Amino acid sequence: MYDFDTRIDRRNTGSVKVDLIAKQGFPEDTIPLWVADMDFAVPPEVEEALKKAAGQRIYGYTLCKDSYFEAVRQWFSRRFGWEIQEEWMIQTPGVVFALAAAVRAFTEKGDGVLLQRPVYFPFSKVVEANERVVVNNPLVYENGSYRIDFDDFERKIVDHNVKLFLLCSPHNPVGRVWSEEELCRMGEICLRHQVFVVADEIHCDFIRPGYRHHTFASLGEAFADHCMICTAPSKTFNLAGLQISNSFIPNSEWREKMEAELERVSCQEAGLFGLAACEAAYRYGEPWLLELLDYLEGNLAYIRSFLKEKLPKMKLVEPEGTYMIWLDVSEYGYTAEQLHARLRTKARLWLNEGSMFGPEGAAYLRVNIASPRSVICEAMERLLQF
Ligand SMILES: Cc1ncc(COP(=O)(O)O)c(C=O)c1O
Repeated sequence: MYDFDTRIDRRNTGSVKVDLIAKQGFPEDTIPLWVADMDFAVPPEVEEALKKAAGQRIYGYTLCKDSYFEAVRQWFSRRFGWEIQEEWMIQTPGVVFALAAAVRAFTEKGDGVLLQRPVYFPFSKVVEANERVVVNNPLVYENGSYRIDFDDFERKIVDHNVKLFLLCSPHNPVGRVWSEEELCRMGEICLRHQVFVVADEIHCDFIRPGYRHHTFASLGEAFADHCMICTAPSKTFNLAGLQISNSFIPNSEWREKMEAELERVSCQEAGLFGLAACEAAYRYGEPWLLELLDYLEGNLAYIRSFLKEKLPKMKLVEPEGTYMIWLDVSEYGYTAEQLHARLRTKARLWLNEGSMFGPEGAAYLRVNIASPRSVICEAMERLLQF
């Protein structure tokens, strides 16, 4: 019913993904499969809500209506069995903004902040930019999949004065959807050592068949009492340019710390268009999302068989969630410079080189597969030049 096949020309729209191609000196016909936004039109109801908001003609300071919270509440209740309360909700212009504010609100300069590399690179940035210390619990790549080294996880917390854990769930870029058991094990260790958990769950709606996303806060009261959950409609519905995200802190004392931090930087109400789009997306967007997930399965199936048949040296790390895939290219033995040059000039593809997610990612590529199938097919053919 929805059209994910049509190629929409995004040139000269100010798109970071597309319009930076020329600015960064890539060949003009480069296919951009890097930053995490999709090349698909939003659900029609979201477009209508934005047109309606534009039709008001006056765009003054805007309240977050009760109906907004209700749409968000129903989404998380229906899809994840997680019951949120209105007072838990904190809005920021984005999840990364919330992560940075959390680092400042819940830790002091010099404190350790735990993360699991290779991981979405702003995790390290928000820690370092705020003069806290990155403490890495590297994920272990074994038999084609990533797992957590729990002994190292606990040891790092104890040895490095860790006060906060930035959990990426589902994990970008390795595509893991953490099981209930894994989340509880990490949560218990954090509770044991008074480590507050900030769970970035922005990819929670991209879960592949056979897997299930568990909101960290839904796994027990003690966890809920020591965490902040970051969500946004931006990945799910392709709204990143509207800058809206909803975080939840169930415990009032922790919440007050965050509110004080937002007060310090005068982060106040959200924008009219972000609110309108988010409410419409959560209220009406589920049928669109379900079709999108099917479409992405098709893209993944295509890529999997293409690689197997034509590029067996390039290994797909089978994703459990997200619309990013992680390719192991270690068999090629390229240096970072060779990798960069081959992608850019031979394949004419803009992918994310794995090293940006930490040195552990050096022999990997991250590919955004949320594009029309014809684009994905063309990109795969170009990989043959790699
Ligand atoms: C794990 C993760 N967190 C946060 C973001 C970005 O969130 P925002 O644009 O709301 O700051 C991304 C985008 O790719 C992401 O992958």
